[in-house]
Amino acid sequence: MSSARVEKLLQSMTPAEKIGQLIQYFYFRLPERGDPSMVPPGQVEAVEAALAAGRAGSLLFVTDPATSNRLQRQAIAGNRHGIPVLFGFDVIHGLRTIFPVPIALAASWNPELIEQSQAVAAREARAVGIHWAFAPMLDIARDPRWGRIIEGAGEDPYLGSVVAAAQVRGFQGPHLGADEHIIAGPKHFAGYGAALGGRDYDEVDLSDQELWNTYLPPFKAAIDAGAGNVMSAYMDLNGVPATGNRWLLNDILREALGFEGFVVSDANSARDLAAHHYAADLTDAGARALNAGLDLEMAILDPAFEHLDEALENGQVDIERIDTSVRRLLSAKEALGLLDDPFVDEQAAQTVLNDPAHRETARKAAEESAVLLRNENDLLPLTGIGSVAVLGQMANSKRDTLGPWIFDYDLEETVTVLEGIRAHAAGLETPVEVTYAPGVPSPVRLFPSMFDMWGDGSKTGENFDSEAELSRAVEIATAADVAVVVVGERQDMIGETASRSTLDLPGEQLALLQAVVATGTPTVVVLMSGRPLDLRWAEANTPAILQVWYPGTRGGEAVANLLFGQAVPGGKLPFTWPRHVGQVPMHYAHTRSHDPSKQGRRYWDEESTPLYPFGFGLSYAKFAYSNLAVSSPSTPVDGVVTVSVDVTNTSGRDGNEVAQLYLHQRYGTASRPVRLLKGFRRLHLRAGQTERVEFAVTAEERRYWSAATRDWVLDATSFDVWVGSSSTADLHTEFTVTD
Ligand code: BGC
Repeated sequence: MSSARVEKLLQSMTPAEKIGQLIQYFYFRLPERGDPSMVPPGQVEAVEAALAAGRAGSLLFVTDPATSNRLQRQAIAGNRHGIPVLFGFDVIHGLRTIFPVPIALAASWNPELIEQSQAVAAREARAVGIHWAFAPMLDIARDPRWGRIIEGAGEDPYLGSVVAAAQVRGFQGPHLGADEHIIAGPKHFAGYGAALGGRDYDEVDLSDQELWNTYLPPFKAAIDAGAGNVMSAYMDLNGVPATGNRWLLNDILREALGFEGFVVSDANSARDLAAHHYAADLTDAGARALNAGLDLEMAILDPAFEHLDEALENGQVDIERIDTSVRRLLSAKEALGLLDDPFVDEQAAQTVLNDPAHRETARKAAEESAVLLRNENDLLPLTGIGSVAVLGQMANSKRDTLGPWIFDYDLEETVTVLEGIRAHAAGLETPVEVTYAPGVPSPVRLFPSMFDMWGDGSKTGENFDSEAELSRAVEIATAADVAVVVVGERQDMIGETASRSTLDLPGEQLALLQAVVATGTPTVVVLMSGRPLDLRWAEANTPAILQVWYPGTRGGEAVANLLFGQAVPGGKLPFTWPRHVGQVPMHYAHTRSHDPSKQGRRYWDEESTPLYPFGFGLSYAKFAYSNLAVSSPSTPVDGVVTVSVDVTNTSGRDGNEVAQLYLHQRYGTASRPVRLLKGFRRLHLRAGQTERVEFAVTAEERRYWSAATRDWVLDATSFDVWVGSSSTADLHTEFTVTD
């Protein structure tokens, strides 16, 4: 359905004008940092010429309000109808205020906080003239070699769906076009996270069973929450490129999931239909993408949709199909109010970008997303110490503290772990002395990537004297009461085009950790990463491990608050943490299969259990679960069972916990996973406090797609129920489902 205004516009447009609306260009400015040679020469000039000719309906990568207004004026002057452009951008984890990376936000298991964070990001984006975010990324990821695991919510469809809906609400607000909000663009449709070998962009083969039960649910949740856009994916899905896949973009996305917004390609992925050797040439690529269901092509230069005039002439596409896409794009512009006023207030933008409340939300998000993996003898929080040695290059790197996929950050105000600890230590009643050494050099990437152009110069550099630096690190660790070793992956080691062939701590970081531990000084490992790394040595030899991800603008302050006990960790892993790269892909929701009692012993040379299970995370407080009950021992197939449990903070300090509900279906039309997350609640419990938590298990939670019937089923069967603090919870009950 579109408005009379949109229909009137559509009727007065020529085919060429319509096609112009379906093209989106990158508008690259030269990066302030990094390598400008990565920007294609003449790109900006070519885009301005397209605007002047009415052959661009949307732009991406403009984040400066004055540039946005200037380009908007050019666009309006460039077409007879004065239709403004839609500005999209990768608002992934903040614009100026940088939040923890998406996988970290998912680790908070706190949908309200996630919604709030993306609402802040939307507010900043809208203030500078951005109308639409290429986010959230909803790709389920079960292979951590794939670098883009950092952009999503991890391995689980239930957690992924809750996080997806929260992000859409955060970006879009109460309705599409709400003040201070932007359109959400869930991506990449669909299955991109299952790239063969974890190699970014490589092909994906997914059974219908996996698609329906695991990979599509977060998209369904985002669409149900009203997402206005969806982005198609780069790779081949089951042998057909996702961007030219009519089954995917039409039958699944529109007919089965009910999506009514517009579909954008991934960058150059419509042109790519020719690169995949699927389309014969760019005209064929444009026609097949459009006919498959694509509405808007995102391109750097020379889009395939530029050839739609020709495709129209020779009958490869028809004007009704073009009209449908134009209608969707114009409706989005209308909903955002752009047809009336497309300009931004350049002064007001600065006030929004500098709103201190935004930075506070980012600090809180960093505190809530940290996951405490180990804390022997309650080494953390640190109390009664006189000195701390902080070690590791990333402890002192502002850029790495922020993580990948950000562009408009402010390095000056970014607080590193070292700065956070220094500021915190100085403010204590008995000040704590803080020393620092990087210890070992930063690792170097094998092949350059376009994403390097947004890096920075804070690597250790060529003149780094490895031997002398390691000795210095050992010296200051020996002299300190506690050592905090910050290790992990630099921000350019993860994200797009940053798949890894191992999960080892990169470079010489393990050697640093071993040297520090050998001094006998109690050692805390602070991990900065967006994927699980091989922590077997650290788990066996260090007393405390805190995963802080890439914690954002106020990250260092949050980490200091956590280390010294001003904040209490309560985050939980959104993925299974393998012991070794050879175990991946690995996820908790596997089926039982043959000889289930030996499922932890499938390898000759290593356990096949995880190092840390999905949903795991400690706190400084301790929790106990009791009185698990179901509302009724049996229910009809369409009935609801309420599961309730008491959660008690048994410790002497306040703390955070995430109560998690898992189900297992014992028999039926298909063999079902050993456990599936079907509910969770993040709780803040005071010392000694008990809260009764309830979960409603509806038919929706028990329904699944079965390859036996090639359809959705709801079995009459029995269910095991567990509630507890991770996917290994052992407090158990059961119920049956009757016909
Ligand atoms: C990525 C998308 C992103 C787009 C625009 C692509 O390379 O795959 O996730 O939104 O670039 O920057």
